[in-house]
Amino acid sequence: MTATADAGQVNSGRARARRAGAGRAKAGRVDTGRVDAGRVDADGFRRALAVHAAGVVIVTAQSGGIPVGLTATSFSSVSLEPPLVSFYVDRSSTTWPSLRAAGHFAVNVLACDQADLAARFARKDVDRFAEPTRWRPGPLGAPLLQDVSAHLVCLPYETADVGDHILVVGLVAEARVHGPGRPLLYHQGRFGRFIAHP
Ligand SMILES: Cc1cc2nc3c(=O)[nH]c(=O)nc-3n(C[C@H](O)[C@H](O)[C@H](O)COP(=O)(O)O)c2cc1C
Repeated sequence: MTATADAGQVNSGRARARRAGAGRAKAGRVDTGRVDAGRVDADGFRRALAVHAAGVVIVTAQSGGIPVGLTATSFSSVSLEPPLVSFYVDRSSTTWPSLRAAGHFAVNVLACDQADLAARFARKDVDRFAEPTRWRPGPLGAPLLQDVSAHLVCLPYETADVGDHILVVGLVAEARVHGPGRPLLYHQGRFGRFIAHP
Protein backbone atom coordinates (compact mmCIF):
# COMPACT_ATOMS: atom_id res chain seq x y z
CA MET A 1 0.00 0.00 0.00
CA THR A 2 1.36 3.41 -0.91
CA ALA A 3 1.89 6.24 1.53
CA THR A 4 -0.84 8.21 -0.26
CA ALA A 5 -3.35 5.39 0.10
CA ASP A 6 -2.44 5.06 3.79
CA ALA A 7 -3.05 8.76 4.34
CA GLY A 8 -6.36 8.55 2.53
CA GLN A 9 -7.42 5.64 4.70
CA VAL A 10 -6.52 7.51 7.86
CA ASN A 11 -8.41 10.59 6.73
CA SER A 12 -11.54 8.66 5.86
CA GLY A 13 -11.25 6.88 9.21
CA ARG A 14 -11.16 10.24 10.95
CA ALA A 15 -14.15 11.45 9.01
CA ARG A 16 -16.08 8.33 10.02
CA ALA A 17 -15.01 8.78 13.62
CA ARG A 18 -16.17 12.40 13.61
CA ARG A 19 -19.50 11.42 12.06
CA ALA A 20 -19.87 8.76 14.75
CA GLY A 21 -19.38 11.41 17.43
CA ALA A 22 -15.84 10.32 18.22
CA GLY A 23 -14.43 13.65 17.05
CA ARG A 24 -13.97 14.71 20.65
CA ALA A 25 -11.25 12.07 21.01
CA LYS A 26 -8.19 13.93 19.74
CA ALA A 27 -8.35 12.36 16.30
CA GLY A 28 -4.96 13.79 15.37
CA ARG A 29 -3.27 11.54 17.91
CA VAL A 30 -5.19 8.35 17.12
CA ASP A 31 -4.81 6.27 13.98
CA THR A 32 -8.53 5.82 13.45
CA GLY A 33 -7.88 4.50 9.94
CA ARG A 34 -7.33 1.00 11.33
CA VAL A 35 -10.51 0.83 13.39
CA ASP A 36 -14.03 2.05 12.79
CA ALA A 37 -14.15 4.25 15.88
CA GLY A 38 -17.58 4.63 17.42
CA ARG A 39 -19.02 1.74 15.38
CA VAL A 40 -18.16 -1.15 17.66
CA ASP A 41 -20.62 -4.03 17.73
CA ALA A 42 -23.01 -3.24 20.60
CA ASP A 43 -23.19 -6.80 21.97
CA GLY A 44 -19.43 -7.19 21.87
CA PHE A 45 -19.04 -3.83 23.62
CA ARG A 46 -21.42 -4.87 26.41
CA ARG A 47 -19.75 -8.27 26.77
CA ALA A 48 -16.32 -6.64 27.08
CA LEU A 49 -17.56 -4.20 29.72
CA ALA A 50 -19.23 -7.04 31.66
CA VAL A 51 -15.82 -8.68 32.12
CA HIS A 52 -14.70 -5.64 34.10
CA ALA A 53 -15.53 -6.24 37.79
CA ALA A 54 -16.67 -3.12 39.58
CA GLY A 55 -17.47 -2.01 43.09
CA VAL A 56 -21.07 -0.98 43.72
CA VAL A 57 -22.29 2.27 45.27
CA ILE A 58 -25.64 3.92 45.85
CA VAL A 59 -25.63 7.66 45.22
CA THR A 60 -28.19 9.43 47.41
CA ALA A 61 -29.45 12.98 47.86
CA GLN A 62 -32.27 14.89 49.51
CA SER A 63 -34.22 16.96 47.04
CA GLY A 64 -37.16 19.07 48.20
CA GLY A 65 -37.27 16.99 51.37
CA ILE A 66 -37.57 13.75 49.41
CA PRO A 67 -34.77 11.16 49.53
CA VAL A 68 -33.56 9.95 46.13
CA GLY A 69 -30.89 7.50 45.10
CA LEU A 70 -29.66 5.08 42.47
CA THR A 71 -27.27 2.18 42.18
CA ALA A 72 -24.07 2.83 40.22
CA THR A 73 -20.93 0.94 39.28
CA SER A 74 -19.43 3.91 37.44
CA PHE A 75 -18.07 5.40 40.66
CA SER A 76 -14.39 6.33 40.58
CA SER A 77 -11.79 8.31 42.46
CA VAL A 78 -10.62 11.33 40.47
CA SER A 79 -8.22 13.50 42.45
CA LEU A 80 -6.57 13.57 45.88
CA GLU A 81 -5.94 17.33 46.00
CA PRO A 82 -8.61 18.56 45.82
CA PRO A 83 -10.43 15.38 46.91
CA LEU A 84 -12.69 14.51 43.97
CA VAL A 85 -14.77 11.49 43.03
CA SER A 86 -17.05 10.87 40.08
CA PHE A 87 -19.82 8.75 38.68
CA TYR A 88 -21.79 8.68 35.42
CA VAL A 89 -25.54 8.88 35.30
CA ASP A 90 -27.68 7.90 32.34
CA ARG A 91 -29.35 10.89 30.68
CA SER A 92 -32.65 9.01 30.88
CA SER A 93 -32.42 8.53 34.66
CA THR A 94 -35.50 9.88 36.42
CA THR A 95 -33.38 10.30 39.55
CA TRP A 96 -30.89 12.64 37.89
CA PRO A 97 -33.05 15.82 37.89
CA SER A 98 -33.46 15.47 41.68
CA LEU A 99 -29.78 14.68 42.17
CA ARG A 100 -28.85 17.72 40.10
CA ALA A 101 -31.19 19.97 42.08
CA ALA A 102 -29.78 18.80 45.43
CA GLY A 103 -27.07 20.92 47.02
CA HIS A 104 -24.92 17.86 47.73
CA PHE A 105 -24.97 14.08 47.44
CA ALA A 106 -23.68 11.04 49.29
CA VAL A 107 -21.88 8.02 47.88
CA ASN A 108 -22.65 4.85 49.85
CA VAL A 109 -20.08 2.12 49.16
CA LEU A 110 -21.88 -1.20 49.50
CA ALA A 111 -20.74 -4.23 51.49
CA CYS A 112 -20.83 -7.78 50.12
CA ASP A 113 -24.11 -8.65 51.87
CA GLN A 114 -25.97 -5.69 50.31
CA ALA A 115 -26.79 -7.11 46.87
CA ASP A 116 -30.53 -6.85 47.60
CA LEU A 117 -30.10 -3.17 48.42
CA ALA A 118 -28.20 -2.62 45.17
CA ALA A 119 -30.96 -4.35 43.21
CA ARG A 120 -33.62 -2.31 45.04
CA PHE A 121 -31.99 1.01 44.12
CA ALA A 122 -31.99 0.00 40.46
CA ARG A 123 -35.72 -0.81 40.43
CA LYS A 124 -38.38 1.67 39.38
CA ASP A 125 -41.45 0.06 40.93
CA VAL A 126 -40.51 0.41 44.63
CA ASP A 127 -40.04 3.10 47.24
CA ARG A 128 -36.29 2.62 47.50
CA PHE A 129 -36.10 4.17 50.99
CA ALA A 130 -38.98 2.21 52.54
CA GLU A 131 -38.39 -0.86 54.74
CA PRO A 132 -36.26 -2.95 54.62
CA THR A 133 -33.93 -0.10 53.58
CA ARG A 134 -32.36 1.43 56.68
CA TRP A 135 -30.93 4.93 56.48
CA ARG A 136 -30.42 8.17 58.38
CA PRO A 137 -29.91 11.74 57.21
CA GLY A 138 -26.21 12.63 56.91
CA PRO A 139 -24.55 15.81 58.18
CA LEU A 140 -25.95 17.89 55.30
CA GLY A 141 -29.16 15.91 54.85
CA ALA A 142 -28.33 13.38 52.12
CA PRO A 143 -29.38 9.86 53.18
CA LEU A 144 -26.64 7.63 54.57
CA LEU A 145 -27.47 3.94 54.22
CA GLN A 146 -26.92 1.63 57.20
CA ASP A 147 -24.18 -1.00 57.25
CA VAL A 148 -22.33 0.22 54.15
CA SER A 149 -18.55 -0.20 53.86
CA ALA A 150 -17.99 3.54 53.63
CA HIS A 151 -19.72 6.77 52.74
CA LEU A 152 -18.58 10.01 51.18
CA VAL A 153 -20.53 13.27 51.38
CA CYS A 154 -19.87 15.38 48.29
CA LEU A 155 -20.56 18.88 47.02
CA PRO A 156 -21.22 19.35 43.29
CA TYR A 157 -17.92 20.23 41.60
CA GLU A 158 -18.46 19.71 37.88
CA THR A 159 -20.75 17.99 35.41
CA ALA A 160 -20.20 17.24 31.73
CA ASP A 161 -22.28 15.65 28.99
CA VAL A 162 -20.42 12.58 27.77
CA GLY A 163 -22.19 10.47 25.18
CA ASP A 164 -25.51 9.25 26.55
CA HIS A 165 -24.35 9.79 30.16
CA ILE A 166 -23.57 12.75 32.38
CA LEU A 167 -20.26 12.81 34.23
CA VAL A 168 -20.80 14.05 37.78
CA VAL A 169 -17.74 15.10 39.77
CA GLY A 170 -18.07 15.71 43.50
CA LEU A 171 -15.82 17.50 45.98
CA VAL A 172 -15.60 15.28 49.05
CA ALA A 173 -16.59 17.03 52.28
CA GLU A 174 -16.69 13.96 54.53
CA ALA A 175 -15.34 10.43 54.13
CA ARG A 176 -16.02 7.70 56.68
CA VAL A 177 -15.03 4.03 56.56
CA HIS A 178 -17.28 1.58 58.41
CA GLY A 179 -16.36 -1.91 57.24
CA PRO A 180 -13.39 -2.20 54.91
CA GLY A 181 -12.39 -5.50 53.35
CA ARG A 182 -15.76 -6.89 52.34
CA PRO A 183 -16.91 -5.00 49.22
CA LEU A 184 -19.84 -5.86 46.99
CA LEU A 185 -18.72 -6.43 43.39
CA TYR A 186 -20.61 -6.61 40.10
CA HIS A 187 -19.33 -8.85 37.33
CA GLN A 188 -20.95 -10.40 34.25
CA GLY A 189 -24.39 -9.25 35.40
CA ARG A 190 -24.09 -10.80 38.87
CA PHE A 191 -23.25 -9.54 42.34
CA GLY A 192 -20.42 -11.21 44.22
CA ARG A 193 -17.63 -10.92 46.74
CA PHE A 194 -13.92 -10.18 46.62
CA ILE A 195 -11.50 -12.93 47.63
CA ALA A 196 -7.95 -11.74 48.30
CA HIS A 197 -4.97 -13.82 47.21
CA PRO A 198 -3.47 -15.65 50.21
C1 LIG B 1 -25.12 -3.06 39.21
C2 LIG B 1 -25.75 -1.84 38.59
C3 LIG B 1 -24.95 -0.76 38.27
C4 LIG B 1 -25.49 0.41 37.70
N1 LIG B 1 -24.68 1.47 37.42
C5 LIG B 1 -25.24 2.61 36.92
C6 LIG B 1 -24.43 3.75 36.70
O1 LIG B 1 -23.24 3.76 36.95
N2 LIG B 1 -25.05 4.86 36.19
C7 LIG B 1 -26.39 4.88 35.93
O2 LIG B 1 -26.90 5.91 35.47
N3 LIG B 1 -27.17 3.80 36.14
C8 LIG B 1 -26.63 2.69 36.65
N4 LIG B 1 -27.40 1.60 36.90
C9 LIG B 1 -28.83 1.67 36.60
C10 LIG B 1 -29.56 2.46 37.65
O3 LIG B 1 -29.33 2.03 38.97
C11 LIG B 1 -31.06 2.37 37.36
O4 LIG B 1 -31.30 2.24 36.01
C12 LIG B 1 -31.69 3.61 37.76
O5 LIG B 1 -31.73 3.68 39.13
C13 LIG B 1 -33.08 3.70 37.15
O6 LIG B 1 -33.84 4.47 37.94
P1 LIG B 1 -34.07 6.02 37.75
O7 LIG B 1 -34.69 6.24 36.41
O8 LIG B 1 -34.98 6.30 38.88
O9 LIG B 1 -32.79 6.75 37.91
C14 LIG B 1 -26.88 0.46 37.46
C15 LIG B 1 -27.70 -0.64 37.81
C16 LIG B 1 -27.14 -1.77 38.38
C17 LIG B 1 -28.02 -2.93 38.76
